[in-house]
Amino acid sequence: MGRVDGKIALVTGGSSGIGKATVEMMAVEGATVYLADINDDQGIAIAGANSATFIHLDVSQADQWQSAMALIQADHGRLDILVNNAGISPHDNYESLDMALWHHIMAIVLEGPALGVNAALPLLKQSQAGSIVNLSSVAGIIGASGYASYGAAKAGVRNLTKSVAMLCTERKYPIRCNSVHPGSIDTPILDADKAKYGDKAISQREKSIPMGRLGRAQEVANAIFFLACDESSFITGTELIVDGGFTAR
Ligand SMILES: NC(=O)c1ccc[n+]([C@@H]2O[C@H](COP(=O)([O-])OP(=O)(O)OC[C@H]3O[C@@H](n4cnc5c(N)ncnc54)[C@H](O)[C@@H]3O)[C@@H](O)[C@H]2O)c1
Repeated sequence: MGRVDGKIALVTGGSSGIGKATVEMMAVEGATVYLADINDDQGIAIAGANSATFIHLDVSQADQWQSAMALIQADHGRLDILVNNAGISPHDNYESLDMALWHHIMAIVLEGPALGVNAALPLLKQSQAGSIVNLSSVAGIIGASGYASYGAAKAGVRNLTKSVAMLCTERKYPIRCNSVHPGSIDTPILDADKAKYGDKAISQREKSIPMGRLGRAQEVANAIFFLACDESSFITGTELIVDGGFTAR
């Protein structure tokens, strides 16, 4: 028996990194998986390797969320697991704020999960045990000078998560909602840093982490999976930090 046998799961940003590892784990553990992303080539290949269905979905576009939900409605009539994982993390700071970049980051990182929750609630309400997992970040909990827009958006995701959890408990919906907060994880999202600053960028990050290394995508997927499946059935509105001790000091 898989740990999510028979469940219907949608993972955004499943074409790379943490989302890819989550898609693979969901599929191995028995879920019917929908992989949503804007990177079609990688997404189609990963979906194919995991008997999953690829959906082209830009999470910042409400109409694309509605199309994705219509497809899942037609296929299954319900959704059990929504993982709002898609994201970008460009650098900026409050001394040189570019509002076009601010709005771009907000549209994907904060509005994406909000639109996703809004679009998916009708199908999640049809589940026996629905679960939403939102990817925030340690940057949504502590300050980081070089992540102005991203940090503000991820802090928004942290609060959005708790508000959704409260909505669902108050209205007696069978849906839990939790957030996962990775620290520095070795995925392609760090490629821009590596290209700009070279190995120094990574070694400095590693030195700042009490466990002395970057995290792996699978280590975050493990946390997402726990919150998504029924093993966390009494957990809602909480935040799970996966950062090698970075925020413990
Ligand atoms: N890697 C880290 O160090 C780290 C740390 C904290 C939080 N996170 C968060 O984890 C999540 C996954 O990041 P990752 O490290 O796997 O990055 P990644 O770059 O490997 O993967 C991100 C995926 O999101 C997709 N994506 C980007 N914009 C999209 C959009 N508008 N619509 C749909 N898909 C879109 C990309 O195509 C890509 O497949 C993100 O929300 C990120 O902010 C990552």
